Amino acid sequence: QPQQKQITFEENRIQRKRTGHTILRNMEASLTARDRVGIQDFVLLDTYTSESAFLDNLRKRFHENLIYTYIGTLLVSVNPYKELDIYSKKQMDTYMGVNFFELPPHIYALADNVFRSMQSEFNNHFILISGESGAGKTEASKKILQFYAVSCPSTKLLNNVRDRLLLSNPVLEAFGNAKTLKNDNSSRFGKYMDIQFDHQGGAVGGHILSYLLEKSRVVHQNHGERNFHIFYQLVEGGEEDLLRWLGLERNCQRYRYLVQGDCAKVRSINDKSDWNTVQKALSVIEFGESDIEHLFGIIASVLHLGNIKFEADVRGYASLNNNQEMHWLLGIPTQVLQQGLTHRKIEAKTEEVFSPFSVDHAVYARDALAKAIYGRTFNWLVNKINESLVNKDSSRKTVIGLLDIYGFEVFNVNSFEQFCINYCNEKLQQLFIQLTLKSEQEEYEMEGIEWEPVPFFNNKIICDLVEEKHRGIISLLDEECLRPGEATDLTFLEKMEEKISGHPHFVTHKLADQKTRKTLERGDFRLLHYAGEVTYCVVGFLDKNNDLLYRNGKEVMRQSKNAIIKHCFPSTEPDSKRRPETVVTQFKSSLVSLTEILMSKEPWYVRCIKPNEAKQPGRFDDVLVRHQMKYLGLMEHLRVRRAGFAYRRKYEIFLQRYKPLCPETWPNWKGTAAEGVQCLIKHLGYKPNEYKMGRTKIFIRHPSTLFATEDAFQVCKHKLATSIQAKYKGYRAKGDYLKQREAATKIETCWRGLLARKEREKRAWAAICVLICYRFIKGFMTRNQPVCVDNSEYLAYVRQNYLTRLRDNLPKTVMEKDSWLTPPPIMQEASQLLKKLYIRHMVRKYVQGITPQRKAQLLLKAQTSSMFKGKKENYPFSVCRPFMDTRIGAGDISIKVLQMIRHEHIKYSVPVVKYDRNGFRPRLRQLIFTQEAAYLVEDAKIKQRIDYISLKGNEESNTHGDLVLQCDYLFEALTKLSLIGNQQNSIKVVQGSVRFDIQPGREGFVDFKSGQESMVYRAKNGHLMVVTNSRG
Ligand SMILES: Nc1ncnc2c1ncn2[C@@H]1O[C@H](COP(=O)(O)OP(=O)(O)O)[C@@H](O)[C@H]1O
Ligand SMILES: [Mg+2]
Repeated sequence: QPQQKQITFEENRIQRKRTGHTILRNMEASLTARDRVGIQDFVLLDTYTSESAFLDNLRKRFHENLIYTYIGTLLVSVNPYKELDIYSKKQMDTYMGVNFFELPPHIYALADNVFRSMQSEFNNHFILISGESGAGKTEASKKILQFYAVSCPSTKLLNNVRDRLLLSNPVLEAFGNAKTLKNDNSSRFGKYMDIQFDHQGGAVGGHILSYLLEKSRVVHQNHGERNFHIFYQLVEGGEEDLLRWLGLERNCQRYRYLVQGDCAKVRSINDKSDWNTVQKALSVIEFGESDIEHLFGIIASVLHLGNIKFEADVRGYASLNNNQEMHWLLGIPTQVLQQGLTHRKIEAKTEEVFSPFSVDHAVYARDALAKAIYGRTFNWLVNKINESLVNKDSSRKTVIGLLDIYGFEVFNVNSFEQFCINYCNEKLQQLFIQLTLKSEQEEYEMEGIEWEPVPFFNNKIICDLVEEKHRGIISLLDEECLRPGEATDLTFLEKMEEKISGHPHFVTHKLADQKTRKTLERGDFRLLHYAGEVTYCVVGFLDKNNDLLYRNGKEVMRQSKNAIIKHCFPSTEPDSKRRPETVVTQFKSSLVSLTEILMSKEPWYVRCIKPNEAKQPGRFDDVLVRHQMKYLGLMEHLRVRRAGFAYRRKYEIFLQRYKPLCPETWPNWKGTAAEGVQCLIKHLGYKPNEYKMGRTKIFIRHPSTLFATEDAFQVCKHKLATSIQAKYKGYRAKGDYLKQREAATKIETCWRGLLARKEREKRAWAAICVLICYRFIKGFMTRNQPVCVDNSEYLAYVRQNYLTRLRDNLPKTVMEKDSWLTPPPIMQEASQLLKKLYIRHMVRKYVQGITPQRKAQLLLKAQTSSMFKGKKENYPFSVCRPFMDTRIGAGDISIKVLQMIRHEHIKYSVPVVKYDRNGFRPRLRQLIFTQEAAYLVEDAKIKQRIDYISLKGNEESNTHGDLVLQCDYLFEALTKLSLIGNQQNSIKVVQGSVRFDIQPGREGFVDFKSGQESMVYRAKNGHLMVVTNSRG
């Protein structure tokens, strides 16, 4: 079975390549002249052994902005250092489902081919992106990811995963990338990302592995370099409120950890807009508000930590005076923090002793703490992102891995970090050699193919120099770190000089010859890496490798209120009785497992080249590029590709597939598979230089040879299939004929019977239907006649229909009583009766629901209505305003007044304005109705008592003259008055003008008119003018 499976894979592959080939012929014409500049695939280069020709081709294409070129299926990419218009959605569409040779080389073509191979072969792949720092690896990996995001099948759910995969990038870059001298966005951690696909090719999940973050950058940056982007983004982009809350100022110069490289501002970086991008991304990848708060709490704390200053006390110990920064640190009690930063805890037999730090020591411990906090937070971040990318479905997935790791780098001063980074690149180069140059050539040898070996530089010797057990640099470094006694960076150097002197790739000041010695300092050692020589300064190696954090540093962190810090410094962490693994050893084992992960997958390569050191577009530095070509092994790769064979396969498989093409091998070959293949290809007319016969496999040099064979096979397959089909049909037809005829007759009889029965049932049913229709129509036509045989059924139907509709459409309240369903003529009377009945029923229900209070209110309102309805213009607007028991609370009436009328029960009170009789000046008063009389009150004085009896309307004058009052609750007050004083009849509504007595014998007038705004004033004619707005 496995063999069969393999054939299907092979078929698939051929199928794909074949279609590619056919299209190639048509597409050749469609490539534009520009696309043809130089050669798209180095394999087609005539002088393929010439470095200069190789370089010329790269340069020519680069100047036409053609940054991609193939060597077979390997993609060479030259960093353009400018935006090119080749990454649009349209471009992506163009490259989807198309083969390599059909279109100009592109990273999308590679991505698409990887994807389709994975789909058809249902296996795992990875894309190794390599090149030195700034060559464009990270950009390439982003382009690939974007391509998948657009090209893979999508659903709402998948879009979610897609967005998270895409947006994990800006977040990780903010926290893990920084400006270096080589690259303004240099990855300071290694990243391997798995994208998981389901059967349909939908991206359903992902996982990120991160490698060794360059933590030392948190506390120190070389000149011209920056700390991690996120610090500057926070300070430049953070909202005012956030900064205030974190105790930060919007000024990078204020923070010691941000300015050591002296370049907080960089032209190519917009920290503010990057901040916004990161904020958006964080929300998409499921960071809650509190996560985000805590995360930036940590970033700010690191900045504050960096600003903490120590002073020496009289004994020379570090002391912390007046450090406001402490306040902002992670919610740790100041006392604890102070102690933790200036003392070290030592455990002596039974007790714990705190030993004070010197100032230098305290600074060191502070920086160690900052690095630990940042490093652990970074790991937390990666885990958190992984949680959001996890795919919960357990069905089998295939993956495409993307490896974007820090590139080879050489600075003026290189330290432990560069040592690790460059070692990592050696390992990846080793993997590349292993998988391409070496295994391919070994196979030829194994198969006994005549082969002129292509020499290549194998960097295994350097890998061994670094990692070999007991003798390698890593072992020596660890030994120095762990041994008791006074180990220093210099003793480490001496040890290396002693143990590895004479190694062709290792030299130090002491070991060097006269000439080389001049280029080396005493504390330096130099490695001849595959990519060039690098001089490392030994200072700091031991420290960085130990990465010691004092134990009470951890304990202090555990007291933090910050949830992330709590998580990163768990109390379950084993206390360092035993030393943890050194940094470099951890790194080494992580690289071993990375190699294992990669080895189990199908490899694809992108080799990135940096055209100049100045990060400038349009500049192509021949020397620089030639150097990279060399060390990336591009020439060797090309030579193996050229000299090698494009396809190979086992004799058995090849014969099995193509044997129909030759009469001697078809349908069965009696001899060995190798002989069969020999016979077959002789028949097909393969030329001697087109193939080689190995021990177990046939090797075919050019794809075209195989394409031709496959084409022939496809044609032959159809012919074969047709003739087999024809023969088989004839045979079956004859043999089965009689049997079939007999059976057919039987079936026919049964079938006819069945059909007849069905037909009969159908007819009976139709007759019933016709009868019903007839009666219905007849009924409709006679519907207005008296009930008779013809229409009785129809009318019954109408009745029932009306009643059911009425039931569903009854008015909900009395107010809607007019929305009664119109009845059909025969239901007129019944409908009338029903309506009456139903309205009564509703009214009864309504009345039953009224409370005694509401009833009293309504009675009052009825009284008002009888007095004012139709008489006063603004009466209708008052109807809906409920009456109150009183308008002045008992507490607002003076106690004196209450005292004076304490024997009379107060029934109602209301604020009024009294217009005095001379000049109509307005005065505020309270009008109180008791059982006995009405009172006009000013503050604590009763100004006037009026017996209800004396109220007689305005016809008769009284002794004091009349009282002119204005009241906002006129209808209410008058209704109350009329009831309390039993004075319904003395209330008159007048229009236009009213005459009254100022004093007996002296008359006054009040004129009424309506206007926009209500007001009362003394008019020129001496009358009191009352303007009312009709709604007032
Ligand atoms: N394909 C590209 N198109 C445009 N600019 C690019 C491209 N590749 C790289 N660059 C530029 O080069 C810089 C460095 O690339 P990067 O991928 O970060 O390098 P590496 O990861 O190899 O160190 C990017 O910030 C970008 O400005
Ligand atoms: Mg990078």
